[in-house]
Amino acid sequence: MSKIILTGDRPTGKLHLGHFASSLRLRLKYQEEGDYDEMYVFSADMQGLTDNAKNPEKIKENVFEVIKDNLSIGLDPKKITFFVQSGVPELNELTMFYLNLVTLSRLKRNPTIKEEIKQRGFEESIPVGFLTYPISQAADITAFDANVIPVGDDQIPILEQVCEIVDTFNNTYGDTLVRPKYVIPDNKSSRRLPGTDGKAKMSKSAGNCIYLSDDTETVRKKVMSMFTDPNHIKVENPGNTKDNPVFIYLDAFCEDREKFEELKNHYERGGLGDKVVKEYLFEVLESILTPIRERRAYYDEHPEIVEEIIKEGTAHAREKAREVLNKVRKSIGVEYFKK
Ligand code: TRP
Repeated sequence: MSKIILTGDRPTGKLHLGHFASSLRLRLKYQEEGDYDEMYVFSADMQGLTDNAKNPEKIKENVFEVIKDNLSIGLDPKKITFFVQSGVPELNELTMFYLNLVTLSRLKRNPTIKEEIKQRGFEESIPVGFLTYPISQAADITAFDANVIPVGDDQIPILEQVCEIVDTFNNTYGDTLVRPKYVIPDNKSSRRLPGTDGKAKMSKSAGNCIYLSDDTETVRKKVMSMFTDPNHIKVENPGNTKDNPVFIYLDAFCEDREKFEELKNHYERGGLGDKVVKEYLFEVLESILTPIRERRAYYDEHPEIVEEIIKEGTAHAREKAREVLNKVRKSIGVEYFKK
């Protein structure tokens, strides 16, 4: 069976280290290993609109930005197809077919959707498009026969629902769609990076993110003011590394594992100051972010290149999605005219 990797980002803001640690870095790893048939990365603008219908400017501003973030980390447009979701209308047609295979109560039970509804304060005024985005996500994935989906761990319940849709479709209309598998990082700290303030997750609204596009000074300030162990008052006190975002970031990003273990043991024993650890974390992050900034500067200078990459990618994605759509129509029997 071919290996087709696909993932998307909602263009609701710039991508940050949390995205990098969970899904972006896996994309790079797959690219480097080269052991796949096709890889797609897309800007999920239709999904972004499901809770931003009244604020389309926000989506528009970020549609190319998130692709630029992906290019800046070193993803290669020769090896990966980049596209914009709304540029592939076949996805919407697939969504219409899949909508009939899911019940309202099942949608409302999805834990990620439930949590997101709460965060957004929708209460009873949930946009239908928002509630049903797992169904359109099933279209995003199946339209390309994608079977490997690198995502953040909050996406696991969505992917489970996608698999149910695939199974229902195949059981009802015969084997047609490919069942996907999600992939999350092995390293637990990388799956869901806490905010610089120690909150469970980096989020733009909490203002606790380090962005891939932040400059050196901004990164320094953010790192030096990070939340650590509030009980580690004197340097000689033993410190807690477990719920300490500085150590969680080091666990996620430090390649020198020996040094990481040494710092961790020292901090836990006492005698290691927060400032020293933060200086080191800053260095580690800078070694990751510097090449990213350099590539971004190139793409910033050449917006026409970014546009061309996405335009070509979108045309290619449409061709592929059309093939799957034709299969789907045939399986259901929505084919009335002779050629
Ligand atoms: N829901 C994903 C997110 O919020 C974005 C997304 C849309 C996606 N369609 C997808 C991810 C298909 C993987 C596969 O980040």
